Amino acid sequence: MAFVTEENLTDLAEKRWATARSPRLAELMTGLVRHLHAYAREVGLTEEEWAAAVEWLAATGRISDDKRQEFILASDVLGLSTLVVQLNNRFTPAATPATVLGPFHIDGSPAAPYGTDMSDGIPGVPLFVTGRVLDPSGTALPDVVLDVWQADADGTYEAQLPDVDEARLRAKYRTRADGTYCVRTIAPRGYAIPMDGPVGALVGRTRISHFRPAHIHFLIAHPGYDRLVTHLFQQGSEYLDSDVVFGTKDRLVVDFAERPAGPAPDGGTLTVPHLHAEYDFVLNPAAAPDRARP
Ligand code: BEZ
Ligand code: FE
Repeated sequence: MAFVTEENLTDLAEKRWATARSPRLAELMTGLVRHLHAYAREVGLTEEEWAAAVEWLAATGRISDDKRQEFILASDVLGLSTLVVQLNNRFTPAATPATVLGPFHIDGSPAAPYGTDMSDGIPGVPLFVTGRVLDPSGTALPDVVLDVWQADADGTYEAQLPDVDEARLRAKYRTRADGTYCVRTIAPRGYAIPMDGPVGALVGRTRISHFRPAHIHFLIAHPGYDRLVTHLFQQGSEYLDSDVVFGTKDRLVVDFAERPAGPAPDGGTLTVPHLHAEYDFVLNPAAAPDRARP
């Protein structure tokens, strides 16, 4: 091996990592080395700054567990999560855009028939979300499962509460034969990302707003289509233009229209005013399998 100089170090390190047995790992690692070295050179990284960064990374690991993933939060506030979503979900323009999954999705939500109230007595303004699931040609898709989850009227998710033994503000709805769905819930509230860890400490040293606008999450997986992970945001909600995790897209902002007491979108009657959001999700057809690949 050549002796190390400032000039040849990046080249040497890249060549070393290029020996990874998997070609893809070699590509990932040589690219990482190249960009890390370029970053250190560009900003003139000091030893104290690198030591502080290593301590921050260690603290990020220490605070993470099976309920809290501070590295994902770091990726979210850096815009990296949204960039990765963007690079991997290049849907046809007619399809509903994808956005970040976030840390609060819980697997195994209960099945909820059309119009089931997933808020089940949790206080808040009643909200109905109705519409269809379509393919890009406009054909309605029956029997599509919509996995839905959201924060409550205080901006808190089930995963943030101790000792919840029943699904709270999450459920799996299914489209009917005509492709329609109906979610009944309460209006969510915008919320702050967790600020009591290393990510919060870093964000707190900037003028970055640490809030997300009010939204509901949807995960729609259906055979023959790409998985759609997305949100619907409440039009007029605070923080729409400053979402701390860069998740807001204009086509996902929806009017939560105010409706008086009376007929409700599920065919029933409500004795109190409610909100109604209407949205058709359009799924992206899955790419044909590439026959050239093994
Ligand atoms: C969420 O939408 O639930 C979320 C996404 C990223 C970071 C924090 C929360
Ligand atoms: Fe959320």
